[in-house]
Amino acid sequence: MSTATEDGSNGYEAVADIYVAGRGTRSPVGDSVGAAVVRAWANGFPRDATVLDLGSGPGEPSTRILQEAGLTTYAVDASPTMVAAFRERYPGVPIERNTVEASEFFNRTFSGVLAWGLLFLLDPASQALVIEKVARALKPEGRFLFTAPREPLKWLDGMTGRPSESLGGRTYEQLLRDAGLMWVADTEDEGGNHYYFVEKV
Ligand SMILES: C[S@@+](CC[C@H](N)C(=O)[O-])C[C@H]1O[C@@H](n2cnc3c(N)ncnc32)[C@H](O)[C@@H]1O
Repeated sequence: MSTATEDGSNGYEAVADIYVAGRGTRSPVGDSVGAAVVRAWANGFPRDATVLDLGSGPGEPSTRILQEAGLTTYAVDASPTMVAAFRERYPGVPIERNTVEASEFFNRTFSGVLAWGLLFLLDPASQALVIEKVARALKPEGRFLFTAPREPLKWLDGMTGRPSESLGGRTYEQLLRDAGLMWVADTEDEGGNHYYFVEKV
C-alpha cells in the first residue's frame, strides 16, 4: 500500500515549516547531521559535474554542500513549502516540484545522485523504481549516495508519524545489482544515519 499523500511528500508538506526552521536553516555554529559525509562525497566529483538532489527539502544542507563543491545541481521535492524555501535560498537553481517517482529530471543524465533521508519514506515498489531510474540516469562511473538503515526495518517517521521502511542491505544490494549498480562502501554519521555508497558498473 502506498503511503504517499496527495502532494506526494509522504507527510512532509504538513511539517515543512518546522523542518525548514530546523535542519533546513543553517546553524551559526557547526553543520547539520551528515554534512561531513555528503561534503566528502561531493568533493570526489570533478568541479563541472552535474548532481541531482532527490528529496532535497529546502536544499540546506545538501544542495548548499554540492554547490560549495563547485557542482552543477538539480533538485526535486514534492512538498510545495520545501520547494518555495529552496527557491528563496537558491534562485535560478533548477528544482522540480514533483515526486521522485515521476520526476522529469530522470530524462537527464547525471554524474551523481544524492538521496538523503528519502528512500525509506517510499513504499518498497517505489524504492525499487527509483533505484532503476537512478541507474538509468547515471553516466558511466556515476555515483549514487543514499541513506537508509543497514538492516531491514519498519518504523514510524519521527516527524510525520508515517510508516517508513528500510529494505535492508541485502535487498538494496540485489536491487542495485539488478539495475546495473554496485554498492561499494558504507558508513554512519554522528546521527546514526547509514549511508550506501553506490557506483554505476
Ligand atoms: C527527511 S526530508 C530530507 C530532506 C533533505 N534531503 C535533507 O537532507 O534534509 C525528506 C524530503 O523528501 C521529500 N519527499 C518525500 N517523499 C517524496 C517523494 N515521493 N518525492 C519527492 N520528494 C519527497 C519531503 O518533502 C522532504 O523534503
